Amino acid sequence: MTQLSLAASNSDLAAEEGKTRPRDWSPANYDLRDAWFPVIFSRLVTPTPTRRIIHSQPYYLWRDPSQHGGRAQAAEFHPELLGRLRAQASAFTGGSGIYPTVERYGYVWAWYGNPDHANPELIPNIPFLPVDGKNIPVHMQRTARFDASSPLSVENLIDLTHADFLHADTIGDGLSASDIVECEWTSETVTRTRIVAQKSVAPVMRWIGGVRAKYQDLRAVLHVHVRSGVTISYPRFRPGHDIPNVQPFLPVGRFRSRVDVTQYAITAPFIFRMMMPRIAYLIQPQDNSVVRPQTERYIDDGERRDLHSRFDKPGFRYRHLLEQLAERQRNGDYSYLNDAEPGRDISQLLGMDR
Ligand SMILES: [Fe+2]
Repeated sequence: MTQLSLAASNSDLAAEEGKTRPRDWSPANYDLRDAWFPVIFSRLVTPTPTRRIIHSQPYYLWRDPSQHGGRAQAAEFHPELLGRLRAQASAFTGGSGIYPTVERYGYVWAWYGNPDHANPELIPNIPFLPVDGKNIPVHMQRTARFDASSPLSVENLIDLTHADFLHADTIGDGLSASDIVECEWTSETVTRTRIVAQKSVAPVMRWIGGVRAKYQDLRAVLHVHVRSGVTISYPRFRPGHDIPNVQPFLPVGRFRSRVDVTQYAITAPFIFRMMMPRIAYLIQPQDNSVVRPQTERYIDDGERRDLHSRFDKPGFRYRHLLEQLAERQRNGDYSYLNDAEPGRDISQLLGMDR
């Protein structure tokens, strides 16, 4: 299969959707190519192959200490069948059966798209994680699954206010002296910054963070890579702690996403560092309780399936960028524009130097 036929299958999908409901936006329709996805935690890649899925495309991952210097390999087929099935390999591996891979930040990044375009410089920069992935504590890596496509799950995360009511029992309510939202973007990323003064102290900061004050300030930056769904988040609580984290929303299928989270609160006190990643087990079901019924609405034929608000600026920008990328890809343009630079250092953007 050539790149052209990849593009054709995209527009077939769009045409099929257009026939049923031309005016409804649906988060399930995006299949953006030429991107690096952190498909698996590096430590889980062993001689026994593990399968992951990106947009219904299989990725078998393994490593053999005696081959390729022990580097992680990713193939379209189980490695035992690779020799026999190689002739059926698709354009995603250029007919070789093997995907381009890079190990970085504790993940194996695999390329989804035309392998000739797989440039490691396009891997998102994550300034707070060790590049070689060494010394990332295992308990800081957690997996969550959502009954929603990757864009819908990302949209929920971008939504500023959802935490105030959905996660009020852990992250805190919406009471504060002031609450400012800023949004900036490139052709590939949306960055949303929320600056809250004198917010009620987050319950987790009281339980396990040792914060005794009544109020705290919060500066939370969320940096979203639109094409891949990799989201990089830097919340800073004062008094309190930094909770830098990566949530890569892997687009498994049209109604399912998988997130291999790294929550790297490495500068926080011991108890907080140990416990905070486990709070995810409280938070993620709360998020799924919202996105799952949303997904059902998009599938069912109802009056109005999409209830998005145009006043949600970062969310609206995210959708707009998704649509622009999809439009360019429908026209056969898979390139990254000059303003994008997914690999540029974002430590300043995240406010790590403040
Ligand atoms: Fe949430």
